[in-house]
Amino acid sequence: MIFEPRTIKNVTFRNRVLRSSVGGRMAAYDGTVTHVWRNFERTFAEGGVGGIISTTFSTNRRRQTPFEYPSLSEQRFVAPLREHVAAIREGGCPYIIQIGDPGAATQLSLFGESADAMSSSSGFEFLYGYRNRRVPMSPDEIRTVIGEFADAAARAREAGADGVEITAEKGYLIHQFLNPGLNRRTDAWGGSADRRFRLLEEIVTAVRRAVGPDYLLGVRLAARDFNYLPYANFLLRFPWAFPLRHHVYGNDLKTTLAYGKRLKALGVDLLHVVTGTGFPGPKGNPGAFPLREIKLFYNATRHLGTKAALRASLLNLVPERIALPLLSIGWREAAGVSLEEAEAFRNEVELPVITNGGYQSRSNIELGLARCDFVSMARALIATPDLLDRYRDGAGEPAEPCTFCNRCCARSATSPLGCYEPKRYGGDLDRMVREIMAYNNPVRARP
Ligand SMILES: Cc1cc2nc3c(=O)[nH]c(=O)nc-3n(C[C@H](O)[C@H](O)[C@H](O)COP(=O)(O)O)c2cc1C
Repeated sequence: MIFEPRTIKNVTFRNRVLRSSVGGRMAAYDGTVTHVWRNFERTFAEGGVGGIISTTFSTNRRRQTPFEYPSLSEQRFVAPLREHVAAIREGGCPYIIQIGDPGAATQLSLFGESADAMSSSSGFEFLYGYRNRRVPMSPDEIRTVIGEFADAAARAREAGADGVEITAEKGYLIHQFLNPGLNRRTDAWGGSADRRFRLLEEIVTAVRRAVGPDYLLGVRLAARDFNYLPYANFLLRFPWAFPLRHHVYGNDLKTTLAYGKRLKALGVDLLHVVTGTGFPGPKGNPGAFPLREIKLFYNATRHLGTKAALRASLLNLVPERIALPLLSIGWREAAGVSLEEAEAFRNEVELPVITNGGYQSRSNIELGLARCDFVSMARALIATPDLLDRYRDGAGEPAEPCTFCNRCCARSATSPLGCYEPKRYGGDLDRMVREIMAYNNPVRARP
């Protein structure tokens, strides 16, 4: 099953395991892709994955996701991207570009800027985002966002990518409209489930028009919002939304399945089904809570707002032996954390579905593929980029597997991207540094 190719909309995936989006500080300051980014992506193509979904390329010039992440917000990004995408696809690995706008969620500008706070409606959120308050977008600003997605998608096609994936989850801008705990608007873009869907609907329609009917178009969607995660997160999100189930849980599966059917009718070809609202989050990245790395991250972003500074100070003050058990509640999830929801989409929406979250062992991947069309993986592949080649050649599980420690996730915005789990290197930190720094090699990452 794993190694059966599958064709969707003229794109043949070599097998059923895709590299899920993995972002890190690998672009130039302005968002132009670099050789570091190409080396990183190429490593997975050469390691045998069926296809690659890129990190989130930002669609808006001000809201990079975060600093030194790649952008498609301007035409000038296309030429360097085309050259590198060709190098990644050389061996026959399809390349899908994910496009997104973090809205008020993930932004790492040099100084806190008003653009960083843009969202569906006003509110305060303690754990995610950097500015003190979310600020509602005006209808004109929303229309600009829709045009930006369409332009970015057209550029992805021009750059030679095999398809685009619109990110409508992670608590990013589209999700800030879909999620009833965050979207408190009362105009045409908020209120009912139907009106909350309008932004995504208009973006998908505009993107489809921009890329043409024959181009692979996917959407990454949260099947359930789990607004209470990380634990009791809803207590520190204001204003509280009523009915309270919107505030505590967000969208339920019934609502998102209805969204899935509408996406199909709009011409979406592939759904990447995940759960949860923020990134990182216990549903998005099941595993351990990376306390020290989160501390590093909060401290590195404390200049962006009073809230960001307060958050960092609190975490610095509370002793680790108290903070770690508290913050770890709810993080230890099993493999296939969103499989049940992904399977429901596959059965009810009847589109090809990618399941994601916590996969690594061959047996777990096979369990996922028995119920969905594709499995996508991030952390296990960061640890073992040639995992698929190994499985294909009959080798067993890796000797130094991913431990789902989540250090890679939390460090992705502050440090070079790679595996920061000392256990995997038997404590040999020189080897860790060598492996991480290999992506910086001007020619190629691995011999
Ligand atoms: C270092 C790192 C960076 C990530 N960057 C992105 C990103 O840019 N966009 C995105 O949609 N997901 C991103 N993710 C989430 C992954 O795509 C994936 O959904 C998540 O890690 C769960 O899959 P896994 O258990 O196989 O790691 C990132 C994950 C990691 C570990």
